Amino acid sequence: MAIEFRIHHLEDVESTNRVARELVLDGAGEDLVVVARTQSKGRGRLDRSWESPEGGLWFSIILRPDIEPDMVPSLNIIGALSVARVLRNDYDMDARVKWPNDVRVEGRKICGILSEMFRGRSGDMFLVIGIGLNANIDVSCFSKDIRVRTTSIKNERGVEVDLDTLLNSILTQFGTLCSDMFSGGFPAVLSEHRSLVESIGSRVRVRPVPPEEAFEGIAVGMDRRGALVVELDDGRNRCVLEGDVDLV
Ligand code: BTN
Repeated sequence: MAIEFRIHHLEDVESTNRVARELVLDGAGEDLVVVARTQSKGRGRLDRSWESPEGGLWFSIILRPDIEPDMVPSLNIIGALSVARVLRNDYDMDARVKWPNDVRVEGRKICGILSEMFRGRSGDMFLVIGIGLNANIDVSCFSKDIRVRTTSIKNERGVEVDLDTLLNSILTQFGTLCSDMFSGGFPAVLSEHRSLVESIGSRVRVRPVPPEEAFEGIAVGMDRRGALVVELDDGRNRCVLEGDVDLV
């Protein structure tokens, strides 16, 4: 059954992930989406900051999934796949995934995902999936180091898109993929995601999180949780649940 999301529109916030967390601690339930016009302290993975000017789609989905913590990456996969599907199907863009869950077009990042898990008032585990998509942004407004590796729908297509339509399309895909996953269809979800992951079959350098020594190998696939499986030079396989991966 598709998820009926309630959408909470806000103007200028520090971070929609932060607002989502506060709402949960105030007793808000799941299946709520917080979307903001701008973020003054948008947060990225690995404690990085996330520039969030007007024109982007900045939102956080609150879920209360009945899953083990090591399955959280599977919901990130669903987030990335939802965005990639919408960009491919509705906007005719060749969107691909850079593991774990960056969405890129022609090698430039267009969307990032930051998920955070925590306990609500009742002790239940909540998951906030924060999605930042450069929609109607001219990337020349980003700081220099970000500008060179980033793109947006506006830059790729030369037009502005309706942000509410974009959000609804992504949430529809997200809800459908969640139902597929909970009804045993995750292998098909993983295989679609795998077909879009840029690094499969290539040599990669992995910097694992929590920090461990970086290593190299061939990215050969993903396991049932969505962890990247890397074949090391000695033939052993190593699985990475979280980290940064670059092609070498
Ligand atoms: C990354 O690639 O590092 C993840 C970026 C995630 C950004 C989104 S924007 C909406 C939500 N609120 C935040 O503060 N971060 C996420």
